[in-house]
Amino acid sequence: MKNLGILLSGRGSNFEAIADKVESGKLNANIAIVISNRADAPGIESARSRGLKAQVIPSKGKVREEHDRDVAAALCAHRVDLVCLAGYMRLLSPWFVQQFPNRILNIHPALLPAFPGLEAQKQAFDYGVKVSGCTVHFVDENLDHGAIIVQKVVPVLDGDDEHSLAARILEQEHIAYTEAIGIVLEGKFSVEGRRVILR
Ligand code: GAR
Repeated sequence: MKNLGILLSGRGSNFEAIADKVESGKLNANIAIVISNRADAPGIESARSRGLKAQVIPSKGKVREEHDRDVAAALCAHRVDLVCLAGYMRLLSPWFVQQFPNRILNIHPALLPAFPGLEAQKQAFDYGVKVSGCTVHFVDENLDHGAIIVQKVVPVLDGDDEHSLAARILEQEHIAYTEAIGIVLEGKFSVEGRRVILR
């Protein structure tokens, strides 16, 4: 069975959704370690309460690559096959990305390449788009940029505010992430340029 390593910084609802699918047998994988760069991340507490291996590797005040080396060492020590960023609010160094080619996934709460970066749901809402959604993609050396595995579309309703929109996007995130992890773990895809082709 393949080992997942989850990196998070906060609430951890995407981590919870992945863990639920693993526990119910719908995702054939093992969560080998959950790592947070913040000690106060609720997601790390919930990982512990599920009996999963959870580790805080503080990033504050550390040079980026130095922190990334500690994170990579923990992932390797737990024989992680696939790294899943789940609300990991930290840029990765090129060094880190190169350690795990096509083996790091990220989820972003917008239809990339629209609205990369922070507060994507607010950016989309303020722009006035009629549809938004979420994207699961491979991580490359640029922010919110790598080849796209799964996207889900969410309509923006007239009565929405940025919070109601974000909540509906989040429901789709929870579906999209395990779908993408399943595709990657089963290896039934090829990457041709920017395109992820399912086989
Ligand atoms: C999610 O909406 C995720 O898409 C977003 O942070 C939230 C984390 O929520 N990630 C990014 O914006 C990355 N650019 P969670 O901690 O409940 O999973």
